[in-house]
Amino acid sequence: MLLRGSISTPLPSSLRLNLTTTRTNPRNVTVSSRASLEYPLSISDEALESRGFALRRTAEGLNLEALNKVFVAVGFPRRDPEKIRVALEHTDSMVWVEQRKTQRAVAFARATGDGVFNAIIWDVVVDPSFQGIGLGKAVVERLVGDLLGRGISNIALYSEPRVLGFYRPLGFVADPDGIRGMVYSRKQKKK
Ligand SMILES: CC(C)(COP(=O)(O)OP(=O)(O)OC[C@H]1O[C@@H](n2cnc3c(N)ncnc32)[C@H](O)[C@@H]1OP(=O)(O)O)[C@@H](O)C(=O)NCCC(=O)NCCS
Repeated sequence: MLLRGSISTPLPSSLRLNLTTTRTNPRNVTVSSRASLEYPLSISDEALESRGFALRRTAEGLNLEALNKVFVAVGFPRRDPEKIRVALEHTDSMVWVEQRKTQRAVAFARATGDGVFNAIIWDVVVDPSFQGIGLGKAVVERLVGDLLGRGISNIALYSEPRVLGFYRPLGFVADPDGIRGMVYSRKQKKK
């Protein structure tokens, strides 16, 4: 899926350059306090804090074993923590939510890319015990906002069919302008 309008159209009008702090806009969504191009947020950093969650944007303090457990809990294959560490080193942007009480990551999303034009979002996960309370939306909104704020407007992701409905309201569309995603497949034709 690709962020709506990200191929050739200008950035949505909801995105503004603004240096002010978090506030509620007329559409009743809060916007980030980050001094960057803004993207509407459904829940403010402060509201997350008040619920015992802290937002993180670097791998500092991120327990990779615990993150791996979240990956496995949602059905992703268990991965070598050393490889996760390398992947994070090559990650452009990440957003994760730490549960203050346990200091564990309960929601996570990251993006790789060329740092200028393109980014792909990976590993969007929320610990099953914390799903359905807005954390998935919170991390994707912030990740997209951070990328847009850096001028990266071609933002894509792979979505399992069962999660298309999660990404659509966040601005992602499948096959924009008929463009189809293709991935290399190792399956060889039978001779
Ligand atoms: C998909 C996932 C990240 C969503 O996270 P979450 O924290 O449970 O979702 P949120 O609570 O932020 O939900 C935000 C909105 O999306 C909706 N939503 C959540 N999951 C959805 C789904 N699978 N299909 C359609 N809508 C969904 C919610 O109802 C909510 O709607 P609202 O804003 O109208 O209230 C989470 O369920 C997850 O980790 N799933 C397993 C891993 C996975 O599939 N990741 C995506 C890989 S492609």
